[in-house]
Amino acid sequence: MVFLRSLSRRDIFLVLLGAVSLHLFTLIFPSALHSTHDQRLIIANPHIDHPPADTNPLPPPPEAEPDRFKNTVQHNVHTTEKESKRPHTHVSGAQVKQEIIETTLVSHAYGWTIFRNLYMADGTVFIVSRHPSSYFPDIRFMTSTGLPAENTPENIKLREPTKKDMAIISPEEARHRWGPVKAGEPYRVWAVEGNTFLVNDPSQFLRHYYHFVAELVFGAWAFWTGTFSQSPDGVVTASSPPPTLENTPSLDRFIFMNSDADGWRDNPGFNRYFLRAAFPSLTVEHREDWDDRVLTSRPPPYPAYNYSNPDPNLDKTDEEIRRGSRVWRFDQVLFADRSAAFRGEACGSRTQRTAAEAFEAMQKRLPVGWWDPLRKAVLQFAGATENIKSSAPRTELMSAADPQAHLPMPEKVVITYIDRQKTKRSLAPADHTLLVKSLEELTEKRGWELIVVQAENLTKDMQIRIMARTTILLSIHGNGLTHLCLMPNTRISTVIEMFVPEGFAHDYQWTTHALGMRHFAVWNDTWHTLPNKPKVNYPEGFQGPNIPAYGPKIAELIEGRVDLKYP
Ligand SMILES: *[C@@H]1O[C@H](CO)[C@@H](O)[C@H](O)[C@H]1NC(C)=O
Ligand SMILES: *[C@@H]1O[C@H](CO)[C@@H](O)[C@H](O)[C@H]1NC(C)=O
Ligand SMILES: *[C@@H]1O[C@H](CO)[C@@H](O)[C@H](O)[C@H]1NC(C)=O
Repeated sequence: MVFLRSLSRRDIFLVLLGAVSLHLFTLIFPSALHSTHDQRLIIANPHIDHPPADTNPLPPPPEAEPDRFKNTVQHNVHTTEKESKRPHTHVSGAQVKQEIIETTLVSHAYGWTIFRNLYMADGTVFIVSRHPSSYFPDIRFMTSTGLPAENTPENIKLREPTKKDMAIISPEEARHRWGPVKAGEPYRVWAVEGNTFLVNDPSQFLRHYYHFVAELVFGAWAFWTGTFSQSPDGVVTASSPPPTLENTPSLDRFIFMNSDADGWRDNPGFNRYFLRAAFPSLTVEHREDWDDRVLTSRPPPYPAYNYSNPDPNLDKTDEEIRRGSRVWRFDQVLFADRSAAFRGEACGSRTQRTAAEAFEAMQKRLPVGWWDPLRKAVLQFAGATENIKSSAPRTELMSAADPQAHLPMPEKVVITYIDRQKTKRSLAPADHTLLVKSLEELTEKRGWELIVVQAENLTKDMQIRIMARTTILLSIHGNGLTHLCLMPNTRISTVIEMFVPEGFAHDYQWTTHALGMRHFAVWNDTWHTLPNKPKVNYPEGFQGPNIPAYGPKIAELIEGRVDLKYP
């Protein structure tokens, strides 16, 4: 059922590029990598709505098969035919279908993996399969120990996962651990129904609007919708009909295995706003809830063996220990791990964006407007009524020189400048004054609208409603630019990011391009855009309060961009 996509020339190039980058990386951090083989993408029959819990049952165990259905909850008396076919029930129904079902790997990119029937007991994630472990991606490309990341060889080593983090076991071993101890006894497998997003990251990067929304949720949504998109052959070309979002299954719960309730909530409060607006029915669990599942599936401790008084009932004790071991089986899981994503080429060597692994793996499968469902939900939550429908470009056009070429011009040109003068990273005061004056003159001359936003003066709803109308977003490098995820795309939608001269980071540049919009990096009176992207650089003054920005040149850039002089 599982197949590796045949490699195109571009893939081969990426593999080689990845190998070269990994090689360089290995020279710097020799302990960091053991293997360089490419595990880019595996897709297996992803066209499944909810996971059928009874696919792929194993042959019965050697003992007499217990009556599996003895404890089945009778339900659905009043439900429709369709509903009663649902593979699971929410009526205290964990006793339903307790046999061991093999794990299926649905899709995988570095740091992003979708499984059906993934197991967890005592804190270890189990893949149950009759296939050898070489059949699966190396576990270090799927998970890590979840420790906060530092760029030291010691820390890189400490984040390497072990069998305690993720293990691949045979169905026989799974049955020994959690199957009937004696004929007629039940399996001790407890179903966690529906679709779960398992996040192994610590709070280090979760507590930031950018890293949470534009990396974690952005990458998850790209990977999820790409995996389940209804593209006929898995690859969208200019001539194939666009895949649709219709059959994208809902995400029922997020579990932050490694973060407490505070660990993903940023100080301004945009993470909770975005998550609740985008997924109103979502259940969120945290480390404490995960620990509940860990501790309740932990076998009772072995009594210390007393050599002067050996326990005559030892066999019995072993049986009791087995009877006390339980396992949770998750119907369908998207498993994300930041450290594992950094072991890939797109993230680790090229963009430093975990979402880049998910997005690039799925780019050819992503339906038109794949991000729009979340964008639309958040805009509507904020009370926006204009520009809710975006015109995201076809993904195959993303690599074209001008991916916006076929999009309509905006009805009104709205330039939004996020004024960060009250924060540490800010423009030289005189430059800020001249910039506002230049923008005022330009917008007055051309009849455009200028909005100067001091985020601290506006409610979240107001900030987001402004983004729904913004054509050109201008700001110093900083978290506020995450709002670009909420802009509508038009012929000229643009993000202009000011850096201290020579400074550059990929955060907003990558995200802007992933959404098919145009990004310019401004250094005082010059600018850079693709294909002349600067190198990542944090020079002196990057975080400082005296960043130069020459207003008249920036106004010239904006005017030229609207007049399509800089396509
Ligand atoms: C081991 O058994 C001996 C003999 O019954 C007993 O005296 C001793 O306390 C036991 N040790 C432990 C640690 O239970
Ligand atoms: C934000 O509020 C402060 C204090 O009330 C005010 O001085 C400033 O002009 C406001 N900024 C904007 C852009 O409205
Ligand atoms: C910024 O550009 C302006 C216009 O070219 C120039 O006069 C000014 O000296 C530059 N500032 C810095 C710090 O380079």
